[in-house]
Amino acid sequence: MKLGVNIDHIAVLREARRINDPNPLDALSICEKVGVEQITIHLREDRRHIQDKDAQEIIIRSKLPVNLECAIESGMIEIACALKPHRVTLVPEKRQEVTTEGGLALSLEDTRLTDGIKNLHAHGIEVSLFVDPTDEALSVSKELGVEWIEFHTGAYANIFATLHTNIKETHHAIKSLDLPKSTLQDMLDSELAKLKSLSAKAHILGLHVAAGHGLNYDNVKAIAQIDDIEELNIGQSIIARSIWVGLKRAILQMQEAIK
Ligand code: PXP
Repeated sequence: MKLGVNIDHIAVLREARRINDPNPLDALSICEKVGVEQITIHLREDRRHIQDKDAQEIIIRSKLPVNLECAIESGMIEIACALKPHRVTLVPEKRQEVTTEGGLALSLEDTRLTDGIKNLHAHGIEVSLFVDPTDEALSVSKELGVEWIEFHTGAYANIFATLHTNIKETHHAIKSLDLPKSTLQDMLDSELAKLKSLSAKAHILGLHVAAGHGLNYDNVKAIAQIDDIEELNIGQSIIARSIWVGLKRAILQMQEAIK
């Protein structure tokens, strides 16, 4: 299981003051030293955390492959092509959202998507699509000719949080918060079974499978045990823990959790 560390939240903290501290660039050497496999950053259209300059410097300086997340918008794709990261993960974006709330709505007729993928491939960049775990997302992704899919694990994380921590409000706001524990457990089991069977199907189709969103030290184990998921991209929980134990230990603890 490979770990991609999403370092956006270092820039979130910096942007709170609009100064140059903390600098996400400083995370690179720590990630390299502790054996992280990938750096993940999201260059949002509203530039709320990672800025163009960050993306450029991170891609140039990182010894690890960089996975750049961006929206399917021609301007963003042009920027991504010029930056030439190892991989681009296309994600849906809404201005009002706190974080990426769900997977892409995929269509073979969507020329923004088909042209965007073509353009990225022409620049030698591998492409991943951030999708909800559904059969349709799999088959359309295959038809679109991408190398990777990344399953959005937000629904899983949300059910897990409701079941185990009794959190009443999460950003995914599932409508089942007052369900009995046995029902929530069934939902969790079925979410995991779905991720497992779709990952196996994706593997048979020749797609690489990543997963991410809402994964943390408590809920990651079951996802990490799914054989056909090759990579996890994790941000919030690692950066949050790094405040208390430092980035190096926070990553080491996550590596231990996904072993
Ligand atoms: N993968 C993708 C495609 C994402 O958009 C995000 C959130 O930016 C993550 C993984 C990481 O999610 P989290 O910060 O909840 O770990």
